[in-house]
Amino acid sequence: MKILAIETSCDETAASVVENGSQVLSDVIYSQIPVHNKYGGVVPEIASRCHLQAIVPVVGKAVADAGLEFKEIDAVAVANGPGLIGSLLVGVSYAKALAQALNKPLIPVNHWQGHISAVFIDWQPQYPFLALVVSGSHSGVVEVLARDSFHLLGQSRDDAAGEAFDKIARALGLGYPGGPAISLAAEKGDKEKYAFPRAKMEGYDLSFSGLKSAVLNHLNREKMQGRKISEQDVCDIAASAQEAICDILSAKAVSAANEHGITRLTLCGGVAANKRLRELLAERFTGELHYPSAHFCTDNAVMIGIAAYDLFLAGQTADLSLNASARLPLYF
Ligand code: KG4
Ligand code: ZN
Repeated sequence: MKILAIETSCDETAASVVENGSQVLSDVIYSQIPVHNKYGGVVPEIASRCHLQAIVPVVGKAVADAGLEFKEIDAVAVANGPGLIGSLLVGVSYAKALAQALNKPLIPVNHWQGHISAVFIDWQPQYPFLALVVSGSHSGVVEVLARDSFHLLGQSRDDAAGEAFDKIARALGLGYPGGPAISLAAEKGDKEKYAFPRAKMEGYDLSFSGLKSAVLNHLNREKMQGRKISEQDVCDIAASAQEAICDILSAKAVSAANEHGITRLTLCGGVAANKRLRELLAERFTGELHYPSAHFCTDNAVMIGIAAYDLFLAGQTADLSLNASARLPLYF
């Protein structure tokens, strides 16, 4: 079964053809990073306009790269939330029209389930496992009981982990996206230099806004006292902030897994590309640890195509009343 998958939830216009939930026939990503870079973050209105311009060529290329014609596609899948509503609507509207024109099933996919499914590219899943989902828009700990059964154990009450990376990077003048920029600067910094706070949240919830504010307050204080932030200061702050974020995430994921007797942990979403986070998890978790290659950590349509196959087998298709939802919950 060849599924054409579409992903437009944030600032990547992506399309892919995946056969039987595992064979990647094409993988096209048009990234808007250069467009948003000068604003230090994604501008939602600009993102949806860019998706509008890119969606037709991106989908056309995905079908052509797979060596197919549109009529050979068996189903159309689309991420319908959570994400930026204007961006999601472009993908959802396009997918609905295409499914209708081709007279093929339409499969809506939750973006979180997509991220969780990205790890199946390199790993034949065994259940249950615990997924730490960490990206620019969401951070949470999910117990995955079966391919189509998820239990959200906790999530961020405020900023997502990636958002904290992005906002701290912007304040440090490191540009967007902040995660890779902070990681790079951190290589030359001292991670012990600043003890930025780790919020103690109940259960498996997370919080990053206090940590972000602590970094911003530190920078403002230095500025008000007329002190110049040197290149070395930037690296030390980057390393200390990265350490705090990765410490919070790894401690929470490991305690959630241990307390639930789960021996397999997966890491997914853009922040999963972070080397220090992977290192800390490897140090702290005694069970199996799996994560996708860096390319499949960040937004892509392959992960949507993989998840869509499972949803299709479970009969989870939609009709033309399908809508996008900025806050679509992950529940089953
Ligand atoms: O999954 P993703 O592509 O989009 C969302 O669903 O949000 O994640 C993007 C986020 C951005 O916040 C970016 O700064 C972060 O992932 N990111 C990283 C790294 N690479 C990307 N964060 C930390 N370390 C990285 N190496
Ligand atoms: Zn994402």
